[in-house]
Amino acid sequence: MLFKKKYAYGKQSISLLDIWSVIKVLRSDFLTQGPKVKEFEQAICDYTGAKYCVAVSNGTAALHLAVAIFDLKNTDEVITSPITFVATANSILYSGANVKFADINLEDGCINLNEIKKYITVNTKRIIPVHYAGISCDMEKIYQIAHENNLFIIEDAAHAIGSEYKGEKVGNCKYSDMTIFSFHPVKTITTGEGGAITTNNKEIYEKLLLLRSHGITKNNSCFVSPAQFAISEQPVISEMFVIPDSDPGSSYINKSLYGAWYYEQQVLGFNYRLPDINAALGISQLKKIDKFIKRRREIVEFYKESFMNDSRFYFFSEPEYSKAAFHLFPLFINFEQLKINKIELFEKLKNNGLNLQVHYIPVYRQPYYQNFGFKFNNYPNSEKFYTIELSLPLYYDLNKRDLKKIVKIIKQLIVLSSPT
Ligand SMILES: Cc1ncc(COP(=O)(O)O)c(C=O)c1O
Repeated sequence: MLFKKKYAYGKQSISLLDIWSVIKVLRSDFLTQGPKVKEFEQAICDYTGAKYCVAVSNGTAALHLAVAIFDLKNTDEVITSPITFVATANSILYSGANVKFADINLEDGCINLNEIKKYITVNTKRIIPVHYAGISCDMEKIYQIAHENNLFIIEDAAHAIGSEYKGEKVGNCKYSDMTIFSFHPVKTITTGEGGAITTNNKEIYEKLLLLRSHGITKNNSCFVSPAQFAISEQPVISEMFVIPDSDPGSSYINKSLYGAWYYEQQVLGFNYRLPDINAALGISQLKKIDKFIKRRREIVEFYKESFMNDSRFYFFSEPEYSKAAFHLFPLFINFEQLKINKIELFEKLKNNGLNLQVHYIPVYRQPYYQNFGFKFNNYPNSEKFYTIELSLPLYYDLNKRDLKKIVKIIKQLIVLSSPT
């Protein structure tokens, strides 16, 4: 063991101000369904430039609502990347539709445009591009493909809060119908668990609000029942105790049934609400996002300088249209030049305090997805990616000393494993 400190691939950074903002909510009247959620949603709109935002309990819930918002049939198909967390594909299955995986680019880990085109059929309804590691997909081109084929676009920006595409923030939905974010602790900002959906479409926004909370609305201007009585024409107390007669349409029955307590379930929804405790943490974290991103990009630069000009290592260069708020630093290792394989290297790194992760096991490889008959050889780039990728530690609190240690450990193990 060369050093005792352990490093995960990602971790939150929590300040006293974050803690204080959560304490204030704990001492307030509302732990959930209070004012902090709206404030967080407005802060995300201001930051991304989107018109509307709906905060939810996690990124998976955000994906589920975004995919399911308009009904899908069991013959419908949704195209996404296999190099993602299983949640992206699962959200398609939750909605009753079929998953189609399109292979990725080896240069940036994002979905390949020609592969998308290859999988479009008359049944295709949506595309979910994933901004892998925080690098934006080429959204304008994906938008063109979607537009020509009348497809809905949901950006999976779980990795990409704060990333930019052509100088504008990911999540502004300029080239998509919705964007989803995750605020899990390994992400650039955290709410503990949490997620959000942004959109510029009012109809989508209102439906998302309904779906987030059981399909229920308390807004009497939206009621489909004759509940306009609820606020404007409260029945007098004596009327309320009248036992309804056989004429259910009579106005006093309506009045006595639709009081100020009234709420209405209009669709089948879920409880995907984000508590105010988490929203308060999100507001506080969002204030620091520029500082977080700057540090993440500095760390990426440090890694790049450390591993450049060595044929045993390879890493991404950002496409000219992307400025990433890096969630991950994927390092690619040329195992063909080494006497060690990925499993052995991973174990040795772990024994030396580096608890790394692989992003990702291609989703079609999961036993559950194998039930659908996906063939590995349809995805040569994803297969290659999986055999050579390792995600190095990347989070705000890593200091120069930590980074030097991390690089030293990796290089020592690789040098020891290189033929002499
Ligand atoms: C690409 C991607 N999409 C969706 C999710 C789901 O987000 P959450 O963990 O907040 O449910 C994740 C989580 O890591 C992710 O990496």
